[in-house]
Amino acid sequence: MFDRTTALCRRTGLHVATTRRLWVISSRADDLAHHVFFQADEQARHWQGRWPEEEPPAPAQALARPPADPTGALMPVVEMLYFTAVERATRLPVAGVSITTGDGGAHQIGGNVHPDHRGKGYGREAMTAACRLAHRHFGIATLVAACEVANSASMRWLAGCGFAHDGPSRPHVLPNGREIDAQWWTRTDQRARRRCAWLRTLAEATAVTAERQPAGPAVNVRPVAMADQPQPAGPVNVRPAAPDLIR
Ligand SMILES: CC(C)(COP(=O)(O)OP(=O)(O)OC[C@H]1O[C@@H](n2cnc3c(N)ncnc32)[C@H](O)[C@@H]1OP(=O)(O)O)[C@@H](O)C(=O)NCCC(=O)NCCS
Repeated sequence: MFDRTTALCRRTGLHVATTRRLWVISSRADDLAHHVFFQADEQARHWQGRWPEEEPPAPAQALARPPADPTGALMPVVEMLYFTAVERATRLPVAGVSITTGDGGAHQIGGNVHPDHRGKGYGREAMTAACRLAHRHFGIATLVAACEVANSASMRWLAGCGFAHDGPSRPHVLPNGREIDAQWWTRTDQRARRRCAWLRTLAEATAVTAERQPAGPAVNVRPVAMADQPQPAGPVNVRPAAPDLIR
């Protein structure tokens, strides 16, 4: 898998992990438009403590572009990596996974599956592939995650994807003020190794944006800039970890 991923990355700047039923793709600009739909329903908003929001606008395209099409590929930035899972049989985007870095420097992973596609194993397939890319391609040794103890789908999802409890559950306050009993999790890969030639820190990517496109193999890769990206409304299930919650 990584020989192929690395070869495609070198050529196009895109990352595609192929699982039994999905392509898990490092999100391109238009893939991100789908992420809001994976978390806009009542159930997802409840678990993530978001205020009810207006119906998000429909993405311009219902289907994702072919997985190897690098148009709009975003430069991978270690503080904010986004993956879109696309059903291979239909090319429908079905799940989103994000890895963001909180103040304490921990890489927090989270995700959501489109409500029509929950409970079919897609969450597990997408998360497992994203973790593998994070560890073995982007070189992130330890990922952290969190979820509400009462969210049994999420608890089983993380346990099934190889996450281990990081201590006992503890109180946490969601963005809407709801207090929850939160379980924190970690997943460490001793063989984590960076293979991606494109990976940048946010500071490096911002500097690149301010100058010019870097010389490199992918003309279509545009450097990421936070203001430049459609921002999914926080695909993680709880806020980025407060420093006191992450050891
Ligand atoms: C949590 C979520 C990402 C899991 O993805 P999914 O595709 O539905 O889950 P999968 O089908 O891959 O199943 C993963 C595990 O969860 C279990 N599960 C799935 N739906 C469940 C449900 N409604 N109730 C209890 N367990 C459930 C599965 O049985 C499986 O556990 P197992 O391996 O021990 O059998 C998805 O349900 C979701 O987006 N939920 C709403 C938003 C949310 O809670 N986000 C928080 C993420 S931390």
